[in-house]
Amino acid sequence: MTEHIQYSPEHDALVLLDQRYLPLREEFFLCKTVKDICEALVVMVVRGAPAIGVTAAYGCYLAAREISGVADWKPALADKLEQIASARPTAVNLRWAVRLMQAEWARHPEFTLDELSVFWLAKAKVVHAEDIATCKAIGASGADLIADGDTVMTHCNAGALATAGYGTALAPIRAAIAQGKRVQVIANETRPFLQGARLTAYELHKDGIPVKVACDNACALLMQRGLVQKVIVGADRIAANGDAANKIGTFGVALLAKEFAVPFFVAAPVSTIDPETADGSLIPIEDRTPREVTHIGATQITPDGVGVFNFAFDVTPARLIHGIITERGVLTASYTEAIAKLFK
Ligand code: MRU
Repeated sequence: MTEHIQYSPEHDALVLLDQRYLPLREEFFLCKTVKDICEALVVMVVRGAPAIGVTAAYGCYLAAREISGVADWKPALADKLEQIASARPTAVNLRWAVRLMQAEWARHPEFTLDELSVFWLAKAKVVHAEDIATCKAIGASGADLIADGDTVMTHCNAGALATAGYGTALAPIRAAIAQGKRVQVIANETRPFLQGARLTAYELHKDGIPVKVACDNACALLMQRGLVQKVIVGADRIAANGDAANKIGTFGVALLAKEFAVPFFVAAPVSTIDPETADGSLIPIEDRTPREVTHIGATQITPDGVGVFNFAFDVTPARLIHGIITERGVLTASYTEAIAKLFK
């Protein structure tokens, strides 16, 4: 796959594959400032919880570069970091990455701004590389859950494009295929941003993994006909009790999976688990611009003056989740205990 998150020393900038235009065009978006980073996050040039965490880590470096020359630089830098951390509210990885960089800064209070920016660039590269390794470990943890011949349904895009590479929900599928199993994927289209139809289909097709796109409202019929053996989705934030926020529509897929006895798994790195959020009701749900629903591209599809809902995520209760596949193994109920043990 095309490197979709790259630091360019030549431009001293973060270069992102612009996911708004996939699969039709491969265009790149250059981030030189915190304003560019926040725009890329808000309009979803880059999206997916781990990918926005990696972007935020490079964003901290760009913040430090940007304020070079400001005499009272520490409060100015802290303010820029907060702008990055709050660009999107649901995925905890954004905050996680910024807090990680802040903790490194706190460990080196003696650093000049120049020293801090050199240090942060190196740290952002580590976060980037570690995310790929984490995804591969998620794949290794989850591969055995998939049997030869399975068709796995996924919702949204929790693949290479949503991470630094390899993916979370798609990782066990990739690993099972590497073991020699025959696996097919159903990518739910995922209205309104169409992450499934555009992005999951794009990356799997490019990698030669058999994939079919289904309209979101086909899920019940496909399960009723026995065409789905497993569901694996990603997550934006997992609460301390195992409730998992993911792309809007995931909860409905989980309810249908229960009805049709299809095992439903969540795959996510430990950095997506937020032990400070007790349960799913406390996870903030992003409410995005109505335009994503009222329009497809430049074409308006709803009547003038009619309101719409555009909540970007929903929360699947822990009781519907068969297992949470992490880089440190597969967690099973009781999630409260399993998660507490993980963070001990
Ligand atoms: O709004 P998005 O596209 O950022 O939402 C992405 C998802 O919901 C993903 O499933 C989740 O972030 C996991 S990505 C590995």
